[in-house]
Amino acid sequence: MAPIQFGILMIPYQMLDVAGPVDILSTSSKSLIAQCEAAGLLAPGLSEKAIDIEFHHINTTMDPVLMTSNISLVPTTTVDDCPPLDYLLIGGPDPMTFKLDEKFADFIRKHVAAGKGIFTTCTGGMAISSSGVLDGRKATTNHQALEMAKQMRPQVNWVKEQWVEDGQFWTAGGACAGMDMFSHWVAKHYAPEIAAIGLMGLDFEPRDIEGKRVLRTEQVV
Ligand SMILES: *[C@@H]1O[C@H](CO)[C@@H](O)[C@H](O)[C@H]1NC(C)=O
Ligand SMILES: *[C@@H]1O[C@H](CO)[C@@H](O)[C@H](O)[C@H]1NC(C)=O
Repeated sequence: MAPIQFGILMIPYQMLDVAGPVDILSTSSKSLIAQCEAAGLLAPGLSEKAIDIEFHHINTTMDPVLMTSNISLVPTTTVDDCPPLDYLLIGGPDPMTFKLDEKFADFIRKHVAAGKGIFTTCTGGMAISSSGVLDGRKATTNHQALEMAKQMRPQVNWVKEQWVEDGQFWTAGGACAGMDMFSHWVAKHYAPEIAAIGLMGLDFEPRDIEGKRVLRTEQVV
């Protein structure tokens, strides 16, 4: 099987909205687990079941983009050159000032029309809502901004849940809710030991969908 092509749109997002989710994926990834096997830290054979994934950081140009905490990130590709993606992640920008660029809106609509998966974390749900792809869907966004989201895009059925899965869309609340969502996504699609390696590597115990209960790693997987 070809590796999963995973894209991140480089809107000026809050670092943890993207860094948390992609590190959950990469800590359970084939390349990282294979390295641990080679070093004798894990039993051989696990990497065969791990997440085979390639990451693409996408903007309209290849210039560095300034994110929160003064972190500057360099894109790996552009909306024009990006290979076909299986999944696209959109983290949360400042909703007061952010406006979705038409090139990004177009890119998102094509991705959705191709039937591919979308993840949003924090205000990322609001950020993409102007493209219309979430209209008629159940979705969430940072819970502090839910009222603003309802005013901004009333066509979306905004709800206050830790995360929401609706067809090809997975939307989460604030950054750490995004990490909860990704942990459950990994547990849903991969072997329990693969999800456990990633979560234990990060020393992270995700909450459940109600956001109330802290689950122990072994309960999640
Ligand atoms: C990244 O893309 C956005 C949206 O198209 C654009 O406004 C911004 O200028 C780009 N950033 C850089 C550094 O090219
Ligand atoms: C951001 O980094 C630049 C140097 O690249 C520095 O001049 C500036 O003071 C920094 N700003 C903040 C808020 O840390």
